[in-house]
Amino acid sequence: MELDKAQKQAEARKSGGPADLLPATIVVRLEALVRDVRTVLNDLTGVRPAPYAVRKPLARHLIAVTPSPTPSAGITPRRLRVTRVVRETPDAVSLSLTDPEGRRIAFVPGQFFTVLVTLASGDVLRRAYSISSVPDEDGAAAEVTITIKRMPGGRASNHLNDAITEGDILDVLGPSGSFTVTPDPAARRHLVLLAGGSGITPLASITRTTLAREPGARVTLVYGNRGERDIIFREALESLAEAHADRFTLRHVLSEPPAGFTGRTGLLDRDNVTRELDAIAASSGLDADATAYYVCGPEPMMAAAREALLARGVDPARIHEERFSAPARRTAPALPAASAPIEIRVRGRAKTVTAAPGQTLLEAGLAASLPMPFSCTMGGCGVCKVKLLSGNVTSEEPNCLNEEEKNQGFVLACVSRAAAPCAVEVP
Ligand SMILES: Cc1cc2nc3c(=O)[nH]c(=O)nc-3n(C[C@H](O)[C@H](O)[C@H](O)COP(=O)(O)OP(=O)(O)OC[C@H]3O[C@@H](n4cnc5c(N)ncnc54)[C@H](O)[C@@H]3O)c2cc1C
Ligand code: FES
Repeated sequence: MELDKAQKQAEARKSGGPADLLPATIVVRLEALVRDVRTVLNDLTGVRPAPYAVRKPLARHLIAVTPSPTPSAGITPRRLRVTRVVRETPDAVSLSLTDPEGRRIAFVPGQFFTVLVTLASGDVLRRAYSISSVPDEDGAAAEVTITIKRMPGGRASNHLNDAITEGDILDVLGPSGSFTVTPDPAARRHLVLLAGGSGITPLASITRTTLAREPGARVTLVYGNRGERDIIFREALESLAEAHADRFTLRHVLSEPPAGFTGRTGLLDRDNVTRELDAIAASSGLDADATAYYVCGPEPMMAAAREALLARGVDPARIHEERFSAPARRTAPALPAASAPIEIRVRGRAKTVTAAPGQTLLEAGLAASLPMPFSCTMGGCGVCKVKLLSGNVTSEEPNCLNEEEKNQGFVLACVSRAAAPCAVEVP
């Protein structure tokens, strides 16, 4: 891995530009400095950071510099061309992508791509970005759109906002993810979608697709933001609300509303989520057997939404969540005290690696150069799912595996550690 990093940095230096003149470590520090200065300037000029920021180092800050998967590693990224760049808000950009060979791209509304983001330094980061566009009736599209909101101090999100132009090529893995709604023209369901900030991206795809493909379905979208200028897809959502006034209700919640704003004000905290649910129940009803809830947004909002839904007696099986960042409160079992051997089976190969105490299955596998799939590295996306064949692991909770997957013996390699000798298989 280190070899690959050094090679990439050497290539980046060869390619010219400021990195040509400076050692890679200085370039990385300068990039960080520029990001910090930009964040301060943005703040001074009113472009404020999102109301949350994950400061705790994620595993990916330790293993983010990884080689791009190569065909020989068995995980082949797909190359997509950026055909349109649309600035949605001062902090968010949409990139529309097509296959240069003209192949259609299949996906289910709610899924995400893992983008291999190559920085100027040559480092390659993996980051998940949900598809915000709609598949055609055959479940595929000639063009798909991802939408990226800047994270203060974030390496990939700022790079994608600032440096990508039409014609660029992005390497992506996927699509993946189970935070999905498969269109069913006969469905007569009510989808209640609770979104905060960039959490609108999968929910925009779900909203548009459901309204287009399910004539008997209703959609209510509660969308929390700081101010009006932070509302991603504002015009498109308002047009949809006009076009489908009988089936689509759009409810904005703003913590810094402009004068004359008539929606709910404040954060999407537990009280406001409860008030919103009360208002929806009063206006259109919330039939317990026909309503499903989809929640995606900053961690505090997600926790508040879950509490509010459970307090109303909503069946947990009807609550679907997509986490973009690690949960604020997570139970991390005591770390195994000793090293443990792990047999990892992946793509017809089996290798026994020794995990140092504290090392996750993913870190141990990558350190042994195994082609382990991963994306978010914090238990949020499911890409690193492996099946536990024998032995015992401890996993951080909550994570995105559902009960069924857990019962089938799946664990997430990025948040699981060997508690004893064990064997796992990459499905
Ligand atoms: C399934 C899924 C779907 C997603 N979909 C979307 C989407 O559609 N749109 C979208 O905008 N985002 C989406 N995300 C989030 C996205 O993948 C990235 O996590 C996000 O863009 C931030 O990445 P970054 O590289 O910019 O930030 P990072 O560089 O990873 O930084 C993240 C935070 O950690 C801090 N940090 C950085 N380094 C350290 C360190 N060493 N120690 C401590 N803190 C540090 C940064 O300051 C920042 O606040 C999704 C995530 C998941 C899991
Ligand atoms: S890499 Fe996303 S859950 Fe493990």
